[in-house]
Amino acid sequence: MDAAEKIRTRETVIEDTMNDVRAIETRLGVTREGVAAMRDRLVQMASHKDLFSLDDYPPPADSGSAMYRISQDDDDRFALYVNSSDGDRSTPAHNHTTWAVVVGFEGQELNKFYERRAVGSPPQTHQHMVEAGTGVAMLPDDLHSIHLTGQALNFHMYGLALERLDKREYYSETDGTWKFFAGINGILEGRPNLASC
Ligand SMILES: [Fe+2]
Repeated sequence: MDAAEKIRTRETVIEDTMNDVRAIETRLGVTREGVAAMRDRLVQMASHKDLFSLDDYPPPADSGSAMYRISQDDDDRFALYVNSSDGDRSTPAHNHTTWAVVVGFEGQELNKFYERRAVGSPPQTHQHMVEAGTGVAMLPDDLHSIHLTGQALNFHMYGLALERLDKREYYSETDGTWKFFAGINGILEGRPNLASC
């Protein structure tokens, strides 16, 4: 498969996936069953090992994570990203205010889950190592943190674009309180028809 064919095939696979995810949300709603079905559909997409690579979506040169937007509806719903990481990276416990799915492709991303308490640090309830063939799915109020070491390429999908999620909360262990994430910026354009704009 040459480069142009790879891009065309990848776009078709992404489009088919998004069509199915929209249909799942319509059919099952934002429910445990619904987000689990979305996760399973993304796991299926991620089985196309020849269509995605760290070369296509390189991590930052100075380590850390890069987010590439690879699909998003005109109304900013159903936002799909490639998270390309290298080196150590962790987030605090946080919610998303919309449904969220994380699916593995290459490398490992440890997801820890928490239970919100009225006061104090949220205790961890369980964890899941996201890697090829697996994923996690969250409802809008669910809490997780992510922990990466080494190179990893994962898919992150949200019910609404990250830039629109301005009420996402995280627990600051330093301050012992919940805070809002600062606005997201620096998302890279991974859609081939828009990448040169
Ligand atoms: Fe998250």
